[in-house]
Amino acid sequence: MIVGVDLGTTNTGIAFLDGDTARIIPNDRGNRITPSVIAFDENGEALVGEPARNYASTHPDRTVFGVKRLMGDTLTIAFGSVQRTPEQISACIIRKVCDDAQAYLGERIRAAVIAVPAHFSDRARVATIDAGRLAGLSEVHLINEPTAAAIAYANDSPRKRNIVVYDLGGGTFDVTCLESKNNDYTVRSSRGKADLGGRTFDSIMRTHVVEKLETEIGRPLRDDPIVSHHLEESIERAKIELSSRETTGIAVPFVSASGRAMHLECEITRAQFDHLIRSRLEETIRLIRLAVQEAGFDRNGSDTLVYSGGSCRIPIVQSLVHAAIRAPEQYMANPDEIVALGAAVYAERFLRRNASRTAARRTATEGARLRDVAAFNLGVELDDGRYVPVLPRNTPIPATRTRTVTTVSDNQSAVQIHVLQGDDGTAENNHSLGRFVLSGIQKAARGEPRIDVVFSIDENGITHIAARDAKTRAVQKIVVAPHRTGTDKKSDHDRVVALIRDVRVLLEKTRVDADFERECATVIADAEKAVSSKDPTYLAELGVALETVLLELTTILESEEARFEGA
Ligand SMILES: Nc1ncnc2c1ncn2[C@@H]1O[C@H](COP(=O)(O)OP(=O)(O)OP(=O)(O)O)[C@@H](O)[C@H]1O
Ligand SMILES: [Mg+2]
Repeated sequence: MIVGVDLGTTNTGIAFLDGDTARIIPNDRGNRITPSVIAFDENGEALVGEPARNYASTHPDRTVFGVKRLMGDTLTIAFGSVQRTPEQISACIIRKVCDDAQAYLGERIRAAVIAVPAHFSDRARVATIDAGRLAGLSEVHLINEPTAAAIAYANDSPRKRNIVVYDLGGGTFDVTCLESKNNDYTVRSSRGKADLGGRTFDSIMRTHVVEKLETEIGRPLRDDPIVSHHLEESIERAKIELSSRETTGIAVPFVSASGRAMHLECEITRAQFDHLIRSRLEETIRLIRLAVQEAGFDRNGSDTLVYSGGSCRIPIVQSLVHAAIRAPEQYMANPDEIVALGAAVYAERFLRRNASRTAARRTATEGARLRDVAAFNLGVELDDGRYVPVLPRNTPIPATRTRTVTTVSDNQSAVQIHVLQGDDGTAENNHSLGRFVLSGIQKAARGEPRIDVVFSIDENGITHIAARDAKTRAVQKIVVAPHRTGTDKKSDHDRVVALIRDVRVLLEKTRVDADFERECATVIADAEKAVSSKDPTYLAELGVALETVLLELTTILESEEARFEGA
């Protein structure tokens, strides 16, 4: 059984395809979504979902909300004496919803499609796959959340549509434009912001309320623990209430002032709230216009607007979006479930189509195809600090591009390459994916060596980088996904685990001869032994062997793609 998981900043949902219909799987409490909250109690035991949220009111220091925004960071989070990485925390959430699904379906869950924001960084994507693996899944794929929402909406529809998905959840915003017909989806453009969502609005509203209360009481309140505790829960509740009422109140009891306890109250109207968040919403409107233009849809060229994410329930969101995009069909039936449903459809129909048992299912899934796009420009820094894109935003993925680099001084034996994501012409204003060094270049006059650096983005949106000498075709030194390389034992271990996965993924989609396939299988088997042995020398050796195989696979895939493009 393969399921679709929406691992959200605030809530996590899980769904499966039941015949032709995607269905949400309720958790062990019967709820259709599970709060993305984790706590570790005094005994070090993990609490996930509702129990963790309840525990948070008495043990805020042992609880974490919104771990999704930390995915890809190399920090660890302490819960008393327990320390966990963001991947390990997300793994607990994935494990919990998969356990609930197993109990509900009576079937073991080994594979999942996990939805991620279209504008999730490379590191965050790798961390999400790692989280799935740590949760015990043997097969993990990613899909972009707005793309999943479109698939849930247009599932099986024979009509050709131009769809705009406006996805505003708890932590992220994306807008994606795509064409669909008969289960064939082509994403045309995607824009977004990784740090804009319901939590942003909560924090804006909280600042406003604290300022009002401070004026009333005449002393600073922002660091007051009692005030913080009360606002934690009441702000979000008040915000949600303003979606159906014009006015709401926030009460903060037992605040000490002039030696006595006061009960403070603050009223906030919908008009005030709208005013507070308006400039952030206008950013989303600007991005919709840009995405629609980049997609080649004209202003009225979209026939369908799909809303996804709980923050779309805010009335002003809908009125601003509606004014910007005049789509005759608008859909907002289940904005906090639609992503999990779409991920489930994609999992079963697009990834499992060959395994369909009945003729009817085969017909339904024949031709199911998804082409998504790269959400960021991927490029390199030049010697003078300028930035040049190599793989531009909105390139259909998977994609591969090669850039040839050379030396700037005579007999130079190494070149440093700085890989970045972003739009700015100056490298330092973009987001660095990592620097790596190509060493062992044959001594020659400057400008003579030619080294091909191969950049590829796979269908999970993850970047891979490899390099080879263009003249001799010899591998110089290959570095794949620079952030995964490291010198300490733990990162060598993790790097080999990640490389095994990358080789498997690439091997699956590349046509190779039997000899090379056997070679790959041997390297993978040896690498697995190295992983269990934990021997640092053995791990480092197999790391190099895997990188070499990966480079060859990338080269084969690249030539296939070149043929395809030239055809
Ligand atoms: N009626 C409502 N009015 C305003 N906001 C709402 C309403 N219902 C839910 N929200 C907000 O929607 C957000 C949760 O939405 P959702 O579950 O889609 O997000 P998520 O999937 O956890 O986040 P993301 O997709 O950004 O990672 C929360 O910030 C919540 O406060
Ligand atoms: Mg979401």
